Amino acid sequence: MTSSAAADVRYNDRHHVFHSWSAQKLIDPLPAAGGEGSWFWDYEGKRYFDLGSQAVNLNLGHQHPKMVAAILAQAATLCTIAPWFANDVRGEAAKLIAERTPGDLNHVFFTNGGAEATENAARMARLHTGRHKVLTAYRSYHGATGAAIAFTGDPRRWGSEPAIGGVVHFHGPYPYRSSFHAANEPEECARALAHLEQTIMFEGPGTIAAVMLESVVGTNGILVPPEGYLAGVRELCDRFGIVLICDEVMAGFGRCGEWFAVQRWHVTPDLITFAKGVNSGYVPLGGVAISERIAATFAERAYPGGLTYSGHPLACAAAVASIRILEEEGLIANARRLGEEVIGPALQALRERHPSVGEVRGIGCFWAVELVRDRATREMLVPFNAAGKDAVPMNRVAAACKAKGVWPFTHFNRVHVAPPINARDGELRQAIAVLDEALAVADEYYTGR
Ligand SMILES: Cc1ncc(COP(=O)(O)O)c(C=O)c1O
Repeated sequence: MTSSAAADVRYNDRHHVFHSWSAQKLIDPLPAAGGEGSWFWDYEGKRYFDLGSQAVNLNLGHQHPKMVAAILAQAATLCTIAPWFANDVRGEAAKLIAERTPGDLNHVFFTNGGAEATENAARMARLHTGRHKVLTAYRSYHGATGAAIAFTGDPRRWGSEPAIGGVVHFHGPYPYRSSFHAANEPEECARALAHLEQTIMFEGPGTIAAVMLESVVGTNGILVPPEGYLAGVRELCDRFGIVLICDEVMAGFGRCGEWFAVQRWHVTPDLITFAKGVNSGYVPLGGVAISERIAATFAERAYPGGLTYSGHPLACAAAVASIRILEEEGLIANARRLGEEVIGPALQALRERHPSVGEVRGIGCFWAVELVRDRATREMLVPFNAAGKDAVPMNRVAAACKAKGVWPFTHFNRVHVAPPINARDGELRQAIAVLDEALAVADEYYTGR
């Protein structure tokens, strides 16, 4: 029975589902039958530990009973209502989010996901400042819609170019692969800030509406900013009247051991974009948390943007439930603890055992294992943006994990360790032990001494 069910799922998928970011004939998506907690399984009953929380959105794991109950209860009450009505769960979700953001980000514009959040944040910044340019980092991802893909610095942008104008990319801090020949973190921080200041000078401060950055860069490497970097960017934005947009679509809602990652560095942006962890993606939801000053721009003047499903009740009920669960179950602190006590030490041990592990870095439940062919030169295990046969070594590492029941999140030459933030210590340690075995494959390619 299970095999024929899987065959049906596979048949419909292969014949009718057009998948994101893929050459349609070259993929063979696994038919996923169910999930619970940090695990999901296929139709043959093979179980996988979800080491990347799906697309780093599943902060609460699969099928949290209180989440399912909240969605069912909302479905029985009111499935949908247009955005121009006031609605109980929409208002409650906005209030709970506003109470947890730093500073006076007291207003929330809801979207269906992260890309629409960055689109709208930039639109707000442009209208608020009367300027048009947006500065974003090369090592960034901000979504795949028209403007969001232009904001994106990574190669996913290339296929959509020419994209909208007025987007300028800069180099952010990345001590392990410094763009600034820096020898240590303080130097990297100072030079990255000097570079951003220079970029602002060359572009013309009076033309720049916003600097948009991921508080902790996600897909492009889990780049935790050096101490002082975000505060330095805040200062530059203040000095030149530029809106600071922190994209917390991936980093927010507990992932980094804070409600919002910026809180770790006591920085208050003007706008925060969120999605994913706001309700673990049980129902699509994203949004922009807006400061009083920017909200005031639209007090007497209409905001020229909207979405049929802005503040969808099912999604907002899931957000309310999720925020309560994060609080009741102490999961923000748990994410921090898992990073400090379980993930961090286990990954450091991998670095000691495997020559191919060049660096491990991260905070909370947000970590990267960076794989190299040579620790001295830091040559990446696979090249930047590797595809086809260039990507084989990483594909083999991923396959070795999957064979042993761990579903990894890989990007370029990195394995990202971003499990649900309520994962159990023991299962997480076991999953990292599987990664440990899989890294023997990466070691085969090691050419350094
Ligand atoms: C930092 C960041 N911003 C924006 C997005 C886009 O979100 P979505 O896929 O929900 O549109 C993502 C998605 O991975 C992201 O990681």
